[in-house]
Amino acid sequence: MPGPLKDKLIRRIREAGPLTVADYMRAALTDPDHGYYTTRDPIGAAGDFVTAPEISQVFGEMIGLWIADCWDAMGRPRHLKIVEAGPGRGTLMADVLRTLKVAPAMLPDPWLIETSPALRALQRQRIDGGTWAAGLDEVPPGPAVILANEFLDAMPIRQFLRAEEGWRERLVDVDADGSGFAWRLGPALDGGPGLPATADDAVPGSIVEAAPEAVAFVEQLSRRLVRDGGAALLVDYGATSGGPGDSLQAVSRHAYADPLDSPGEADLTAHVDFAALARAARDAGAAVYGPVPQAAFLEALGAFERAAVLKRSATPAQARDIDLGIHRLTAPDQMGSLFKAMAVADPAMPPPAGFGA
Ligand SMILES: C[S@@+](CC[C@H](N)C(=O)[O-])C[C@H]1O[C@@H](n2cnc3c(N)ncnc32)[C@H](O)[C@@H]1O
Repeated sequence: MPGPLKDKLIRRIREAGPLTVADYMRAALTDPDHGYYTTRDPIGAAGDFVTAPEISQVFGEMIGLWIADCWDAMGRPRHLKIVEAGPGRGTLMADVLRTLKVAPAMLPDPWLIETSPALRALQRQRIDGGTWAAGLDEVPPGPAVILANEFLDAMPIRQFLRAEEGWRERLVDVDADGSGFAWRLGPALDGGPGLPATADDAVPGSIVEAAPEAVAFVEQLSRRLVRDGGAALLVDYGATSGGPGDSLQAVSRHAYADPLDSPGEADLTAHVDFAALARAARDAGAAVYGPVPQAAFLEALGAFERAAVLKRSATPAQARDIDLGIHRLTAPDQMGSLFKAMAVADPAMPPPAGFGA
């Protein structure tokens, strides 16, 4: 299917050569004119996919309680920056701010890191007193709790194939008839920069991934938390310890699509390598907790008890929806075990709630 971004990328490749998977992914998601997130609100039943805060208010409420607990452990600073990266429709931040009324001594200062003009407009309608930023470096110093739910999976990844002759980067080229895209392999690399630690164990034929922007984001937030105090909660899908495998996927209208088919028209994501992110956080001096399965995190914070309270004043139809929402967030065959929560914190803080002893 032709599209303005497809044509633009074909022209770019003809002029400058094949793209890395990261360049392709970055353009597909955030091209300033035609990127997937630049141009639309993709979240919800009528969109392409649904996220945890859209499934049940209990998700944001539990995270609100988690923040209140962190704030207590931080010595109750009067002003607390609540920074969310990739806030989507703004539902998580709205539920968090509503829940933080349990801590009236706190003055929450919401910051939203969002690239998409379309989603920024939607978030502005739902969040009072927010400030929008393009990156964490624009958020002034001070104690903070940083949230990212399904943000890191949208960070561009590079892919490398273990060929007989050595490592080669997987690239996106124009296909044989000039109207679409095809995979191509770059020249053999000399071990070179960009290869993740998991590369050491890969057998010939396997693909390994690196997410330099996700790692840089976690390094940046870790340095900030060590300096100014606070904690971050990263919730996303991926294995606890990254290993070889091609996890790039495209989703459109709640179904999988070919990642090369229509850039800018489908969501492109990759599994998050929690082990690589944990290494980056520890190297920056921060403490790391988890990752734990989303189900365990939500259960530890009281999600089932909260659902039971909500059901007391619900109609039978609403009660069914509450049960269905909690089931989708926690069942092992739904989001309960593939999705994981990991916390990064100032090492001076006691361990945050939700991560076991
Ligand atoms: C999958 S959505 C998740 C939305 C939300 N956290 C939720 O749970 O509903 C990804 C979000 O990250 C934003 N995003 C993607 N790449 C970004 C980038 N490089 N910088 C800032 N925001 C980005 C998107 O516009 C969107 O708001």
